[in-house]
Amino acid sequence: MDATAPEYVCRHCDRHLNWQEDALCCPNCEQTVPLEDGIPRFPTPEVTGSSGTVFDWLAPVYETPLWFEPLYRFVGGPTAPWNDRSRIASLLDLEDDGRDVTVLDVACGTGRFTRHIADDVGSVTGIDIADGMLERAQRYAGRDGIDDVAFARMSADELWFDADAFDRVACCWALHLFPDVDAALGEIHRVLQPGGRFAGGALVDEFVFDVPPVRAVARGALDAEPFDVEGLRERLRAAGFSRIDFDRRGAALFFRADVE
Ligand SMILES: C[S@@+](CC[C@H](N)C(=O)[O-])C[C@H]1O[C@@H](n2cnc3c(N)ncnc32)[C@H](O)[C@@H]1O
Ligand SMILES: [Zn+2]
Repeated sequence: MDATAPEYVCRHCDRHLNWQEDALCCPNCEQTVPLEDGIPRFPTPEVTGSSGTVFDWLAPVYETPLWFEPLYRFVGGPTAPWNDRSRIASLLDLEDDGRDVTVLDVACGTGRFTRHIADDVGSVTGIDIADGMLERAQRYAGRDGIDDVAFARMSADELWFDADAFDRVACCWALHLFPDVDAALGEIHRVLQPGGRFAGGALVDEFVFDVPPVRAVARGALDAEPFDVEGLRERLRAAGFSRIDFDRRGAALFFRADVE
């Protein structure tokens, strides 16, 4: 077993999966999860819209000056914090009485945020649905000499972890892409410990996304559905979160929410 990997759990019978050379296997049922290039590939729903394939295709340019940075400036406007990762890391409050915190980075993409916090936490696991993004995540972590991270292909609405498995969950710039946001929020709440915290960034239908043609492009190209701000607050509440706090900069909403 990879020393940095978390315990994965069978979603059919809740047993911990055992590591074998080329797969994770359930000791109780037939479930087998293949390992490819060391990355577990959990079953994911058939990707229907454009977003799944688009992110495989975008992976090589995602962290170049051609993609993330200019788009973040465009949606966040002039008041968006210079470094979105530092802002989200501070919202996550990674210091926990000197205890090493465990973090799940949902929809980690190329691991931009996963790498950013890796040195400051006990362990961090990044999951994403796109193989192309995960391949980059693994490659960039290796390039930066970060070996205490784990990556897995997994869908945000079916997390193969125990209830209460993590102290913190991050989700940066991806909630608005999920086909079933409420299922994903329910899963994130489930895997957080009591006293745990969820934080990240999401797109909302203000500023540039108040302009219908811009929203249409986001929907057409990426299946992105920017949230109504108060609608997202309601959905977080419905998933069981409390002490919800928002900081909107243009169409970029920084959020944090706690588990009691
Ligand atoms: C805009 S990128 C954000 C990546 C990273 N969090 C960051 O801040 O750079 C959105 C990511 O969400 C992933 N994604 C989309 N739908 C997903 C789903 N249902 N489950 C897991 N990941 C998903 C995409 O593959 C893509 O890597
Ligand atoms: Zn099983």
